[in-house]
Order: sequence, then structure tokens, then C-alpha cells
Amino acid sequence: MEDLTPDRTSLDPIEIASRDEIAALQLTRLRWSLNHAYENSPFYRQRFDAAGVHPDDLQTLADLAKFPFTYKQDLRDNYPFGMFAVPREQLSRIHASSGTTGKPTVVGYTKGDIDNWADLIARSIRASGGRAGDICHVAYGYGLFTGGLGAHYGAERLGCTVVPVSGGMTERQVDLIQDFKPRIIMVTPSYMLSILDEFRRRGIDPRETALQVGIFGAEPWTNRMREEIEQVFDMHAVDIYGLSEVMGPGVANECVETKDGLHIWEDHFYPEIIDPETGEVLPDGEMGELVFTTLTKEGLPMIRYRTRDLTRLLPGTARSMRRMEKITGRSDDMIILRGVNIFPTQIEEQILKVKALAPHFQIELTTGANRMDNMTVHCECLPETADAAAREAAAKLLAHHIKSVVGVSTKIVVHDPAGVARSEGKARRVVDNRPKER
Ligand code: DLL
Repeated sequence: MEDLTPDRTSLDPIEIASRDEIAALQLTRLRWSLNHAYENSPFYRQRFDAAGVHPDDLQTLADLAKFPFTYKQDLRDNYPFGMFAVPREQLSRIHASSGTTGKPTVVGYTKGDIDNWADLIARSIRASGGRAGDICHVAYGYGLFTGGLGAHYGAERLGCTVVPVSGGMTERQVDLIQDFKPRIIMVTPSYMLSILDEFRRRGIDPRETALQVGIFGAEPWTNRMREEIEQVFDMHAVDIYGLSEVMGPGVANECVETKDGLHIWEDHFYPEIIDPETGEVLPDGEMGELVFTTLTKEGLPMIRYRTRDLTRLLPGTARSMRRMEKITGRSDDMIILRGVNIFPTQIEEQILKVKALAPHFQIELTTGANRMDNMTVHCECLPETADAAAREAAAKLLAHHIKSVVGVSTKIVVHDPAGVARSEGKARRVVDNRPKER
């Protein structure tokens, strides 16, 4: 693969500023953001008053710990527009997350917010090895989901030629990659695997495409998956992170030259890691729940938003801004099986070790007659390993890896090729069939 390290003169100066300069900018912006939230959003005014804090109480960045957290439930309780800090007419766009239960969470952006978002996505694409003039195939879903439009505006901002394909219609995805020859693709890692299947089905070698950079996010994926995708496509695979409540994609992004975790764009978002049980702020390097405070957002400022994502903060490398380690999972996705905590990414890692298996999988949870919880890993064989003996060997090997590395006994079902449900966006990794009342 080609070395795609961007020219340092092309970076935003703040990306490589000193830590002191970054902290000074953060403090100024944090003061603004707390005041803006307090003055213009009745929700925040009430929250701060109830906690006995005022924006003036912030003298240093560490003082942020005095302020109350914001939760996804707060957005639901204030559905649809109750948390905004500007009059509705000043919003130029609304996005929303569908949410599996209850009301969707609605977020809103002013013109200024959309502008900053485009800048940060442009920065993220550049960090990934993209540049002006590239053709950028956007296969994140367009619509209320922030992935498609977020990526789109940023790719335009960088000066790319954008192909707004959105998710789905996998055959057409392959046609367009073949015909338009994009250098960049932006898509969920699980959907990239479905696109890979279609290349294989047609007998096209994916290494022959023009793709050089894949910018993958919106769901957890492992370094092993990175190796797999880089190898089969002969392209760089880079991680992009974000969440709609805080902005959308482009809150943090890996650098193609290091691929050692995601640099958080700290000039716009202030990260903290907390102990999810006590809420206490943890020092850099310790694992915990990621919490974000927006520093520039006008429409929907977020103060100490609990992401539920688990990671740790690390010092900057390719940029001065701190990194977050690749996300292992969300506290909501953690499976507790007979006392052992398990994330779907741990299962992904073990599946990718077994050569006879495809990378698609789904975890099913059930309760047995003895009232014990059971976990079944549904995976599938490759067309060339579809015979019974190869499948049985693969199942045995996977069960062994999971038992020895993750520490639990699981049932493995090796389906036919294409036997596991495919995603066109975020993959659904866990199906919980345990009785609700227990
Ligand atoms: O998924 C925004 C996005 C779109 C990010 C496209 C990257 C690319 P939401 O639908 O609000 O927003 O979901 C946010 O997805 O809290 C994480 O749990 C998860 N997530 C997002 N990016 C990553 C990633 C978009 N790179 C939630 N690695 C977040 C792991 C991720 N999890």
C-alpha cells in the first residue's frame, strides 16, 4: 500500500499546535459553551441550577467535573426540540437516530454547526489519506442518520468528487466502484464485507479496484478486521468515530500514517473518561466511559454527554490532539453471560482467526431449561469450506478459541455461505431471545 501521510502544511495548524495552545483554546471555548447552554437552553439552566453550579464556576478545564451529566434520556424527555439553544428558525438541519425503543433522539444544527461539521469531516478524510480531487464513494445511509450527509458535506469541503450512493443495493455499489473508480469509500465495516461478497460472487479481484482508502465507522470493529479488509482490498482501512448527539461522524478519526487509535478533534469536543458507576473522572490511560462536551455547537450544545462507549484516552502521536483507543464496545452491548462480560468485538476477533469462516456473525442469547443463559454464535463457512468435515472442524476451533480467550463455553452454528443476516448499515450483532420477565 502506498504511503499516504498528508503533507504537514495541509493540516489545520491547531492539529499540530502545542498542548498549551490547545488547552487555552479549549478553556475559552468551554466557557462560551457553558454560558451559551445556560443562557439559551431552559433545560441546561434548570440542570445547572439544580446542581448548584453556574458557568462562572469554571476556572480551569478540570472544573468541568462540577457540572452535571447529560443523558440520551434527556433528549427523549425533551422530544423533539426541547433542548435546542437557538430558536427553531435558526436551525438549518435536523437529524435523528431511530432508536430501537421509544422516541427517536432529535438533533439540530445551525448553519455554523453544519460548517464546522464539514470542516471536521474534511479533516478526517485528509487524516485518512484522502485529498482534493479524489472520487469519494459514500455508502453510509443518507437521511435522518448522520452518516451519509455528514460524510457528504465534508468530502465536498475537502474538494472531492462525491458519489452519494447511500447504503443498500449492493450490486449497484459494485457497479459504481468498478465504473467510477473511487479512490475513497466511506461505509460501515460490516457493509463493506457485504460489498466484498458481491465482488467475490462476480469473480472480481477486489485488489484490482481503484480504492485506496476506506473510512469505516458507526459500529465497533477490530484491528483484526482491519488487517482482513486491508489485505483483501489492498487499501488502507481507517477508523472514524462520532455520534449524532455530539455532531455525527467526524468527532474523532485515525491517521493513516499511524493507525494507532482515533485523534479526537479536541478544538471542538472536550473528552473525559469517567467511571460509569460512580461518575468520577479518571486519569488519561484508564479505561472507562467516554463523555463529551461540545465546545462550539450552537444549535444543540452538549454538556458532559454520557456516550456509553468504553475506551481510554491516550496522548497524541501523529497529531497533538489526544487519541481514544479503538472502541471495544458500548456498555449497552455488553453481554453478561454466567458472570463473564463479553463484547461482540471479542467474538469477531476469534472468528477472524479461523480461516475456514467468513467474517459475518451474529450472537444469539437464549435461556436453557436449567434457567442458565446460553450464547450461540451464528457464523458461516466460505464457499470453499462448505463440506461437513470442514464446518465441524471450524466450529470446534472457534469454540476452543472463545473458551480459552474470552472464557465462556458457546454453541457454534456454522451456516451455509450467506446464511447470516447481512447489514446495509450498522450490523445487529446481538439477538437477545431470553424471556423478558425473569
Ligand atoms: O454512528 C455516526 C457515525 C456515522 C460515525 C458514520 C461514524 C461513521 P449514531 O447513529 O448516533 O451516530 O451512533 C453513535 O455508534 O456512540 C458508538 O457506540 C457507535 N460508533 C460510531 N462510530 C464508531 C466507531 C453514528 N468508529 C454510536 N467505532 C456511538 C465503534 C462506533 N463504535
